[in-house]
Amino acid sequence: MTDAPSPSAPEPPSGAPDRLAPATVVVTAGRPPRAPGAPVNPPVELSSTYAAWPAELGRTGYGRSQNATWDAFEGVVGELEGGAALVFASGMAAIAAALSVAPADRPILAPTTPYNATSALLEEYACAGRDVRRAPVDDTGAFLAALAGSGRPGGPAGTVWLESPTNPLLQVADLPTLISAAHHHGAVVICDNTFATPLLQRPLAWGADMVVHSVTKYLAGHSDLLLGATVTHPDRGDLHEALVTHRTRHGAIAGPMETWLALRGIRTLQVRFERAAANAAELARRLAGHPAVARVRWPGSGAMLAVDVAGDPDDPEPADRVVAALRLWNAATSLGGVESLGERRRRYPGESPLVPESLLRLSVGIEDIEDLWRDLDQALQAAVRSARVFGSGT
Ligand SMILES: Cc1ncc(COP(=O)(O)O)c(C=O)c1O
Repeated sequence: MTDAPSPSAPEPPSGAPDRLAPATVVVTAGRPPRAPGAPVNPPVELSSTYAAWPAELGRTGYGRSQNATWDAFEGVVGELEGGAALVFASGMAAIAAALSVAPADRPILAPTTPYNATSALLEEYACAGRDVRRAPVDDTGAFLAALAGSGRPGGPAGTVWLESPTNPLLQVADLPTLISAAHHHGAVVICDNTFATPLLQRPLAWGADMVVHSVTKYLAGHSDLLLGATVTHPDRGDLHEALVTHRTRHGAIAGPMETWLALRGIRTLQVRFERAAANAAELARRLAGHPAVARVRWPGSGAMLAVDVAGDPDDPEPADRVVAALRLWNAATSLGGVESLGERRRRYPGESPLVPESLLRLSVGIEDIEDLWRDLDQALQAAVRSARVFGSGT
C-alpha cells in the first residue's frame, strides 16, 4: 500500500438526505478517489508485503494485516450496515472471530436452530465448559426468559447470538425487542444478517453490537467464492480492534482475488435481491395451493423459501424425489446466488432434528418466474405421482 488515499465513502449530493440509499451505496462506495486518469475500480492488490515507508507507520506492512482490496470491499459493507467492516476467509471464520471476542465469563444465548455449523461451534463452546443456552428465537417470551436466566447459576446471558430469518426454518426474531432487552442485561449482541442482508434490516441501527455475514451468499451473489465479514457498531471500536487482532493472529484472511470478485458482485446486490425476492414471493403464493406441499415457510420478504413436502414429516423420500426430479433448479447446497438451488436439509447429519426430514430449502434466483415455476411444479407433481405408484400416499 502506498500513501495514496484509500477508497472513499460516497458523499450524498447536496440537498440530499445524510445517508445515501443502499441502491446507490452498493454502486458508489469503495471506489478509488476521483482524480484525472484515476481508475474507476480499485485494483486486485496482490502483495504479501509492503514497502516500509514512513507513511506505513501504524500498519505492519504485511499482507496478513492489510490489503487495499479489503479496504474497498469493507468500505461498501460497512456503509451498508452502518458500522466498521472486516472481511474474513469465510462466513464461519467471521463467526468464529465474533464469538471469540465476546465476553468469556458469562453465558451465551443462541437460537435453538441457527445455521448448523454455527450450532456445532456453539456446542464446542458448551463442551469446553461454557454455559450455552438455547431458546426459540421466534418466541420472544421464551427467548427473553432464557436471556434473563432467573434462578440459573450463570445469571443473565453475556452474549446474545441472533440469526433472523434462521437457516433453514426461516424463523423471524423481533430484533429490536431482543437487542434492547439484551443491552438491559449488559450483553453483547451479535446478529447473523446473511439471509436478510442490509437491504431488509440493519441490526446495528437497532443497537446490535456486531453483525456477521456469510459474504459467500447474497453479498457476493454468484456462487463462485467463499468469504465472510464482521461489522461492528460505531460505538464498539473495542470489538473492532479485538477482531482485527484476531484476524491478524489467527490468519483466516480473505484472498484479494475473492475479495475483488465479491466487490464486483455486491455492485448488483440491490437489483439481484429485488428480483430474487419478487420471484420468491410469487413462488410462495403458488406453492401454498400445491397438493404436494404441506407447508410453505416464507417470512414475507427475502428470497429464501422452505417447503414441507406433503406426507410424513419424518420420511425423507418424497422430498428426495422432488430434488431428483428438478431440471432447471440445481440440486445443491448454499444460497444467495443468481441461480436457483434446492436441497433437502436433513440430508446433513449435523442438521437439527427439529428440521423435518420432509423440508426442502429453496434459494430463489433471478431466472424467469414462469420457468422456475414450471420446473418446481413438475418436480412436485412427479413426487406425488411416484408416491401413488409406491403406495405411500401424499
Ligand atoms: C446463515 C449463515 N451464516 C453463516 C454461514 C457460513 O458461511 P460460509 O459458508 O461462508 O462459511 C452460512 C452458510 O451457509 C449461513 O447460511
